[in-house]
Amino acid sequence: METYKIAVIAGDGIGPEVIDEGVKVLKAVSKLDKSFDFDFTYFPWGCDFYKKTGKMMDDDGIEQLKKFDAVFLGAVGAPGVPDHISLWGLLLAIRKSFDQYINLRPVKLLKGAPTPVADATPDNVDMIFIRENSEGEYAGSGAWLYKNSPNEVVIQNGVFSRKGCERVIRYAYELARSQNKTLTSISKANALNYSMVFWDQIFEEVGRDYPEVKTYSYLVDAASMFMVKDPARFEIVVTSNLFGDILTDLGAAIAGGMGLAAGANLNPERSFPSMFEPIHGSAPDIAGKGIANPLATVWSASQMLDFFGHGDWGKRLIDCIEELLCEKKTLTTDLGGCSSTADVGDAIVEKLNKYKA
Ligand code: NAD
Ligand code: IPM
Ligand code: MN
Repeated sequence: METYKIAVIAGDGIGPEVIDEGVKVLKAVSKLDKSFDFDFTYFPWGCDFYKKTGKMMDDDGIEQLKKFDAVFLGAVGAPGVPDHISLWGLLLAIRKSFDQYINLRPVKLLKGAPTPVADATPDNVDMIFIRENSEGEYAGSGAWLYKNSPNEVVIQNGVFSRKGCERVIRYAYELARSQNKTLTSISKANALNYSMVFWDQIFEEVGRDYPEVKTYSYLVDAASMFMVKDPARFEIVVTSNLFGDILTDLGAAIAGGMGLAAGANLNPERSFPSMFEPIHGSAPDIAGKGIANPLATVWSASQMLDFFGHGDWGKRLIDCIEELLCEKKTLTTDLGGCSSTADVGDAIVEKLNKYKA
């Protein structure tokens, strides 16, 4: 029997609440399928840890995580700790150290999920965003000069390497070809006259190896308009780090809300662990109340199962989420229900039981 070693970083705010349900669901799956099991190891890292130690994780935290098959992360960030300290000290440190250069975020309207877009249906909202996840606007390159003086200057560089752009764009082409889908690149070369001109050029160059893939290229401003007005235009989408961050929150809004948006941070070469997480934050406004929606976390658990080669179970988890959404009996308040976080996790487990061998 295969045992997957999972590092659990529940983190801050609603992180621990939703992660409990994700772990509950994964345990239920491994009980139903005797061919694999999970071994969960919890790490107490996050903002409380920072308040006690001055660090977001142990000094050798990355080294400790290396021996795991995957990281399962809740959320990071809490009032009282500057966000750039907490995120660069944990979430971004993991993405970068483990070269998780693919951030795969489905924007898929499940049956029964609410959407504010009048014409949106499960048939016409079915996208996969491939967000560059290692460099770009998030390279962390810059300077703060003449601090606190009248001549103060800050510089935040975008870093777009040939290797960095090529690998994410190639990944997107491969995915589009394997799924027989169109590929859309989202950039902004009219204003960003170095980085995005380069991005567009590489999109075209790599595309020569994939003549069978139908492509589109949009400017990010127009793309955000089309995502709302005509979401069917988008199937596989590839974009830069910051644009991908923003557009996938927009995507979340279209496809059921933050409580349903999941993401996988992948190191496709498997030289390092990949990381699975809901894309929402620590939601301090609802933390501690037991009302956070755990379905985004369950969806990210489904992505983890896909990644381990158990796509059958990954699909079953999505089917269970969809059933819950259609029944409208056990949902959290963000989806118009009044159930608790744990009730929703329990309901998924109950639905999974129909797959008992
Ligand atoms: P957020 O995603 O935490 O919250 C935005 C809104 O969505 C809030 O009203 C919140 O209540 C709601 N929401 C989010 N997740 C929900 C869920 N599962 N169920 C029901 N409602 C949910 O974004 P924010 O308020 O901008 O950020 C809060 C903190 O989280 C900040 O410190 C930020 O830096 C951090 N953050 C962390 C991550 C991460 O760890 N991956 C992602 C985004 C933001
Ligand atoms: C996300 C988050 C992070 C990001 C933040 C918390 C650094 O918003 O995963 O979408 O911008 O990547
Ligand atoms: Mn985000």
